[in-house]
Amino acid sequence: MSFEFNQEALLEAVPGRCHRILLTGAAGNLGVVLRERLKRRADVVRVSDLVELGHAAPGEEVVHCDLADAAAVHELVRDVDVIVHFGGVSVERPFEQILPANIQGTFNVYEAARRHGVRRVVFASSNHVTGFYGQDEVIDASVRPRPDGYYGVSKAFGENLAQMYFDRYGIETVALRIGSSFPVAKDRRMLVTWLGYDDLEQLVCRAMFMPNVGHTVVYGVSANRDHWWCNAQAEHLGFLPVQSSEQFRAQVETLPPLDSNDPAVLYQGGAFTVQGPFGD
Ligand SMILES: NC(=O)c1ccc[n+]([C@@H]2O[C@H](COP(=O)([O-])OP(=O)(O)OC[C@H]3O[C@@H](n4cnc5c(N)ncnc54)[C@H](O)[C@@H]3O)[C@@H](O)[C@H]2O)c1
Repeated sequence: MSFEFNQEALLEAVPGRCHRILLTGAAGNLGVVLRERLKRRADVVRVSDLVELGHAAPGEEVVHCDLADAAAVHELVRDVDVIVHFGGVSVERPFEQILPANIQGTFNVYEAARRHGVRRVVFASSNHVTGFYGQDEVIDASVRPRPDGYYGVSKAFGENLAQMYFDRYGIETVALRIGSSFPVAKDRRMLVTWLGYDDLEQLVCRAMFMPNVGHTVVYGVSANRDHWWCNAQAEHLGFLPVQSSEQFRAQVETLPPLDSNDPAVLYQGGAFTVQGPFGD
């Protein structure tokens, strides 16, 4: 089956629409992209972040909220149909920073979802849940997590939390193990892990509206030449990426090659596998 991306084709393939979407992390790199693109899918997009979000455009509600504040998150989730949870610390940081934003924060989101009867969450997980697998391996969502840092551990926590909220309360989640979603693939690793923004939009729309997803884990990656991840367990989403990092290959290959013992070459998580400049 093939799929050519444009708005009409995506709307035809995934016709879902709802009254109110909550988008957390709306001021972030991907939040800004989704803030614009999710408008078509709801009467109201409630955009939220810790930092400045600008004025509410027509069809938007702007709510400043720290995900670590349970009472504030409870109010944030009121009257929402689906949560697209992209807020939190998005890189490796000391555990003390990861804990409130990603661990307490994600718990607060799920607990508010339960209390308000929200039935679906799209969770921005990460490839760093499995970052210590080798670049010579192809893995799928059934493998044991091998997080490559505190950040990866927090995303594994979020996935487990999602599983529990599905098994216990029936709240469905699609956990997106996003590769590298940026305008451009900047290095050799990103030639494999790159997720273009059209493919991101398609994936988020499918995650919001495909029926009976239970708890699905899917790698968010474009149709790149080389791959480490197999999405066989998520075929029911019908995700058909149409972008490819090949357009960046010539530029990337002008970069000097890395040492073959460099973690950026050995492990799927690349440089995230190495302890940062914090800690000891
Ligand atoms: N961009 C990628 O390639 C990529 C890859 C894997 C996973 N992800 C995940 O996707 C999501 C979005 O990524 P991004 O690249 O846009 O990251 P980003 O850092 O640009 O955006 C994250 C946003 O979350 C907000 N935030 C942080 N702590 C918060 C808190 N306590 N309360 C409320 N908001 C808070 C930040 O202010 C920021 O605007 C993140 O969860 C990230 O972990 C992204």
